[in-house]
Amino acid sequence: MAIYRADTSHGVCWITGGGTGIGRQVALDLARAGWTVAVSSRVEDPIEPVVKAAAGLTGKILPFYCDVTDEAAMAATVDAIETQAGPITLAIFNAGVYLPVHAEALSMANFRGTYAVNLFGVLNGLVPTVARMQTRTRGHIVLVGSVTAYFGWPTLAAYGATKAALNNMAEALRYDFEKMNIRIQVINPGFVDTPLAAKNTHMMPYLMSVEDASARIVRAIGKGGYETTFPRRLTWGLKFMRMWPHSARFAFMNFATRWRGYPLMPGRKRE
Ligand SMILES: NC(=O)c1ccc[n+]([C@@H]2O[C@H](COP(=O)([O-])OP(=O)(O)OC[C@H]3O[C@@H](n4cnc5c(N)ncnc54)[C@H](OP(=O)(O)O)[C@@H]3O)[C@@H](O)[C@H]2O)c1
Repeated sequence: MAIYRADTSHGVCWITGGGTGIGRQVALDLARAGWTVAVSSRVEDPIEPVVKAAAGLTGKILPFYCDVTDEAAMAATVDAIETQAGPITLAIFNAGVYLPVHAEALSMANFRGTYAVNLFGVLNGLVPTVARMQTRTRGHIVLVGSVTAYFGWPTLAAYGATKAALNNMAEALRYDFEKMNIRIQVINPGFVDTPLAAKNTHMMPYLMSVEDASARIVRAIGKGGYETTFPRRLTWGLKFMRMWPHSARFAFMNFATRWRGYPLMPGRKRE
């Protein structure tokens, strides 16, 4: 039997980090397709314009304010969305941060901050949402990962590790979710032109617009395939590189990023 695929007539979509970047555009595109979209963000400023931008679309956007690192607040947000708007049939865990890691200034705060949002922030939403989906015997979950999950990149020791963890976790959960009629998908985008990507001062090959990325994500949700990664001209190459011996990959990444040309900066301030 095919696993459940979310439909606008069954309930609402919840997207975290929907006030900016990819999340904002996906929220608007889903509202255009008729979805009622609960958008959560920490602050009011970025969400109010999204609500306004959705005026006139077939669906609508409802704002909720919540920090994904706050476990109790995330459970309360699930409750608030379901009370005000209806059952969450599609949950997109998209909120994420990129804090560059420089090995000469390793800091626990950096790793804790990244894991708190990118991994535990997802779990804070996933756990209460899945509990509800389980009682309804259907649901659809989407995790936003990254191609940086495939192998280590300079400065991405924390970010890439959280995205690899998300990929592994989703794959492991899928076996039981299938029995629970809950679909889980992972979207691993390449580089997308957003405030998060703007923090990366190094190479971003095949940088895409948020509009293009969102169109691909919305299409992927409709199709329901387990992993979606784009653009192919970048991501198929990266998947191939995953099979290389480490020595070849280190050599290629050093060459492609010109990383050996970046000096260490002893005394660099710890973040
Ligand atoms: N841009 C890329 O090249 C790229 C590539 C692959 C994957 N991704 C992934 O795509 C997702 C969206 O990123 P983006 O590129 O669209 O960047 P973005 O515009 O910076 O969006 C990140 C969102 O996460 C939210 N967020 C961060 N910390 C949060 C917290 N503690 N609580 C609640 N929300 C929080 C932010 O919301 P507020 O600050 O408004 O609360 C913001 O809306 C992330 O998971 C990112 O890792 C991005």
